[in-house]
Amino acid sequence: MIKIINIALIFSLGLTASLFAAGASKQHIEDFSFSFEGPFGTFDQNQLQRGLQVYTEVCSSCHGLEHVAFRTLGDPGGPMLEASQVKAYAKQFDIFDVDLDDTRPAIPSDKFPKSAIENAPDLSLMAKARAGFHGPYGLGINQIVKGMGGAEYIASLLIGYTGKEKEEAGAILYENTAFPGGWIAMPPPLEDGIVEYRDGHSNTAHHLSEDVSAFLMWTAEPKMMARKTMGFVAVILLSLLAFLLYLTNKKLWAPIKRKDYKT
Ligand code: HEC
Repeated sequence: MIKIINIALIFSLGLTASLFAAGASKQHIEDFSFSFEGPFGTFDQNQLQRGLQVYTEVCSSCHGLEHVAFRTLGDPGGPMLEASQVKAYAKQFDIFDVDLDDTRPAIPSDKFPKSAIENAPDLSLMAKARAGFHGPYGLGINQIVKGMGGAEYIASLLIGYTGKEKEEAGAILYENTAFPGGWIAMPPPLEDGIVEYRDGHSNTAHHLSEDVSAFLMWTAEPKMMARKTMGFVAVILLSLLAFLLYLTNKKLWAPIKRKDYKT
């Protein structure tokens, strides 16, 4: 009897969970497989360099990266540009210098400029500020299984346009299947071949969105690889400690246990 009740309970729980999932939203987030996923995932240096190129050629005309310093483009674990490349890259941007009270070409110690247009949010931390996987009903169960999915959200957003537009209060909105609410003020920024990669890598809108999202994941968490290595070392050391404590515990109790057996 209890068995039957259990089965019925599990079945009805499963049913309501899937109903919630279906009814929660129409938002569609594609599950991209990024190189940095999982406990041992690392950033792909070539992908970060391609993503930087997409950001520079497309997104930077509207969006800023005000928390990212140019010099970090040369850091290990990142796009790892050479020092001379970082210098040349920074020079393309004009920065307002308070001391000069004028603009000048940026140098590696400067940060990227702020967003050029007011309603375009800064992208430095966007991959950590947004979550791709929710639900069912905001319980976060999907997030436990798949991670936060900030990069997946951005990539899905960039390729989520349906082509429909509407005008609302004088502004044009574009229908997008990844954006909460379904209508976004950002015109579709990517299309196949809009960026020509130097390494000849595939440049379909799908690949461009994946690369720029990986790059934005790096800007949001540049030390991700160091964090994962540290976590791994901590797990090994703690396991060792647990084993040593187990042995100590056995040794401590051994005489008492032996006595017990005799009586
Ligand atoms: C023509 C200007 C323009 C370009 C180019 C542009 N964006 Fe946007 N973007 C916007 C505006 C405006 C918004 C705010 C949209 C809104 O809130 O409805 C936005 C919002 C966003 C958001 C935030 C969405 C959210 O959840 O709030 C992300 C992420 C984003 N853009 C990424 C990109 C990336 C990556 C690129 C380059 C491939 C890019 N954008 C190119 C104007 C632009």
